[in-house]
Amino acid sequence: MLVLGIETSCDETAAAVVDDRSVRSNVIASQMQVHAEYGGVVPELASRAHAERVLPVVESALREAGVRVEAIEAVAVGHRPGLIGCLLVGLSAAKAIAWARGVPLVGVDHVHAHVFSGLLGTDPSEDRSLFPALGLVVSGGHTSMFLCAGPTRVHRLGGTIDDAVGEAYDKAATMLGLGYPGGPMLDRLAQQPGADAARFELPTSMLGPTSLDFSFSGLKTAVLYTIRGVPTRDGRFERGIGELDDRARRDLAASFQAAVVRTIVRKLERALDQLASGELDAGPTRVRSLLVGGGVSANSALRAALADLATRRGLALRLPAMELCVDNAAMIAGLGCALLIEGRPSDLSLRASPSASV
Ligand code: KG4
Ligand code: ZN
Repeated sequence: MLVLGIETSCDETAAAVVDDRSVRSNVIASQMQVHAEYGGVVPELASRAHAERVLPVVESALREAGVRVEAIEAVAVGHRPGLIGCLLVGLSAAKAIAWARGVPLVGVDHVHAHVFSGLLGTDPSEDRSLFPALGLVVSGGHTSMFLCAGPTRVHRLGGTIDDAVGEAYDKAATMLGLGYPGGPMLDRLAQQPGADAARFELPTSMLGPTSLDFSFSGLKTAVLYTIRGVPTRDGRFERGIGELDDRARRDLAASFQAAVVRTIVRKLERALDQLASGELDAGPTRVRSLLVGGGVSANSALRAALADLATRRGLALRLPAMELCVDNAAMIAGLGCALLIEGRPSDLSLRASPSASV
């Protein structure tokens, strides 16, 4: 089924054409330039940029796929979660196209679509060997774990109680004097030869012995204190390294990256253990694979650690291709198609929502 996907939940205007799970085109217009001077996404500017770009991006996606709009059999749109003004732009465009062409509309949860992104390009007949799966989304806006009974059946196990992991990356990168968004730059710095990940002791926040939630704000503060010093009662700061030379910057990046990866791997292991022992509502569950998506799944150290975890636990691992880690519309179209195959379309009164579905 040829599905047009539209994604405008945050700062990327994206459109894609997907034929079941095969990606025919994947166009992403990044707004990085628009927001760079503010060091973060400005919602009002983001909505305006989406309104300018959404139809040209859809046209590019159709052109690159070599299909005319008349050939599109359904329109999928990311309708939650996200910045409400941004979501409404994509939702309105998707409704207009679906209505004008007389084809089904399907609303897709953006975070569930990140879990699905590693399935793009795979054959649905492989699903039997992948599910049940443990899903992980690590991005600038979200950090959540899911038990997935199937590609469209996801149940949230836990998520961040403060910063998303990508947000912590971007803030730590700013403290290290890197640009915006800093995640990829911090990743490159941490990989430099000689980077010493053991030089700075940074915390791994587990939130008690059983929690499947995440917290990254303590780690972010620890980076700040390492640089600036720990505040004293009389308002001074002590034991900070102050001015960062290249070596300290590189070692702190590596120490931060190691702490993030350690935290994520331990949480995944905890979830696998709790699922296997039947402590969770799902009852005893032997997970067959790890499905990981979101911008931070492009991270080199995390990809290596996940491959290692999968081998140790005898699990399959599905990671998205690099261009499908960040926000994109191919994942929206792919999951939308799976929902339509199950007979779960939306109607034209579909609403946008800032929060996730579960
Ligand atoms: O999935 P995404 O495009 O947007 C959200 O849905 O939030 O993720 C963007 C996030 C940013 O925080 C960016 O810094 C981070 O993903 N990111 C990375 C890497 N590439 C992107 N973080 C760490 N290492 C990377 N290689
Ligand atoms: Zn995202």
